[in-house]
Amino acid sequence: MTRYIAAIDQGTTSSRCIIFDAAGAIGAIDQREHRQIFPRPGWVEHDALEIWANVEASVVGAMAKLGIGPKDLAAIGVTNQRETTVLWDRHTGKPAHNAIVWQDTRTDRLVRELGGEAGQDRFRERCGLPLATYFSGPKIRWLLDEMPGARAAAERGDLLFGTIDSWLIWKLTGRHVTDVTNASRTMLMALDGLDWDEALLEAIGVPRAMLPEIRPSSEVYGTARGVLQGAPVASALGDQQAALFGQTCFAPGEGKSTYGTGAFLLVNTGERPVASKSGLLTTVGYRIGEAPTVYALEGSIAVAGSLVQWLRDNLGLIQSASEIEPLAASVADNGGCYFVPAFSGLFAPYWRSDARGVIAGLTAYITKGHIARAALEATAWQTREVVDAMVADSGVPLTTLKVDGGMTANRLLMQILADALGAPVVRPAVTETTCLGAAYAAGLAVGFWPDVESLRANWRKDAEWAPAVAEAVRDREYGAWKKAVQRTLDWVA
Ligand code: G3P
Repeated sequence: MTRYIAAIDQGTTSSRCIIFDAAGAIGAIDQREHRQIFPRPGWVEHDALEIWANVEASVVGAMAKLGIGPKDLAAIGVTNQRETTVLWDRHTGKPAHNAIVWQDTRTDRLVRELGGEAGQDRFRERCGLPLATYFSGPKIRWLLDEMPGARAAAERGDLLFGTIDSWLIWKLTGRHVTDVTNASRTMLMALDGLDWDEALLEAIGVPRAMLPEIRPSSEVYGTARGVLQGAPVASALGDQQAALFGQTCFAPGEGKSTYGTGAFLLVNTGERPVASKSGLLTTVGYRIGEAPTVYALEGSIAVAGSLVQWLRDNLGLIQSASEIEPLAASVADNGGCYFVPAFSGLFAPYWRSDARGVIAGLTAYITKGHIARAALEATAWQTREVVDAMVADSGVPLTTLKVDGGMTANRLLMQILADALGAPVVRPAVTETTCLGAAYAAGLAVGFWPDVESLRANWRKDAEWAPAVAEAVRDREYGAWKKAVQRTLDWVA
């Protein structure tokens, strides 16, 4: 009997496999970190073969913990860091280059050139995205320009492109497909029609022959080979869209914010794409089989949890990530210090690839406790800026914010977030919503769960934080944060 669904979450810093039962409860987890490769300032790469090996190992590890094999899996779902760009040889399956990661800013000049006179919003109406280093299209173009022979191979269909979902499904099943959520992050897909768009391909310089087929987020793409032999591969969603689905944000107006490497706030806008006037992205939320596509507005924050890692790995301020909470709690406030981590430029709502990080307001009074606190506040204020943009676009005030992701274990951060937003913050019992969403989508495809609405019953609240700071204090602090942000935009090396 097939009693479980496995979800593979291939994230920015690690790959994990979580196996769920029919109640959406976690049976087993296995996780493996991979190398972050920084060839130059602003460049970030991953080894796609290392990622694949880690995915296989985490799947084997999770099944072993539960004492099951692939025949016990009703289906496998895939969710992934989005935008990260892999090119590989159709015949040998070998990657042609390290994957270029979503945080990488090497396409800064290219992106400005592509904007030309029209500027950053040249393609926004077609694909919902501003021109930014973040998205896959310009990364593909960079690779085709830089690697001798690559363009001709791509035009012949010998060199293939995929985001990580596509790479993994290729390795699992041999099929070259992607799902509509991941495709919506390439800058190459038209929101209208949900297919690769000739005008975008032409302008960005990407041959259609190298692109995967775009499929719904939930359907059986194929049967797995190798360690998962025989199990149906039945979903793919970008990790943020998977978290939206895992938090059961099925109705327009429902949204969530996920705190991982970066932070990403998505709100379901229903069956129509909604254009943003406030610096948000229009993106695909999910498409379950042949049901209508559901769209979302997204505020993307490049640096959240990765700032804590940076304080650990680059500054040695803490030994482990969990130490950030007691360190930040060792001081009563930020002591006048503000930290804007514009390490990959600034994403929403600014979209400024040239911004660089600052720590503002330093005096001899500042201790590492204040820096730790300012780092947590940075995540909260960045969320506030995205929420303000959502409110400006929709005209609807925020009543509560559903959160998830690794950083939500930090209770102090959750309080700081509620204070910055002036609205309650709610955390579900299962915070592994990314994997849960991919599992749900896979389970729906094979009839493991009957329908979308049946999944709502699995969502339970675990904790809630109410705002506890005076409005005048909140406004003063937000004003100071905005001044610090301005410094990152003014920065020219
Ligand atoms: O768009 C990038 C995003 O998908 C990365 O997510 O969880 O790996 O930080 P995460």
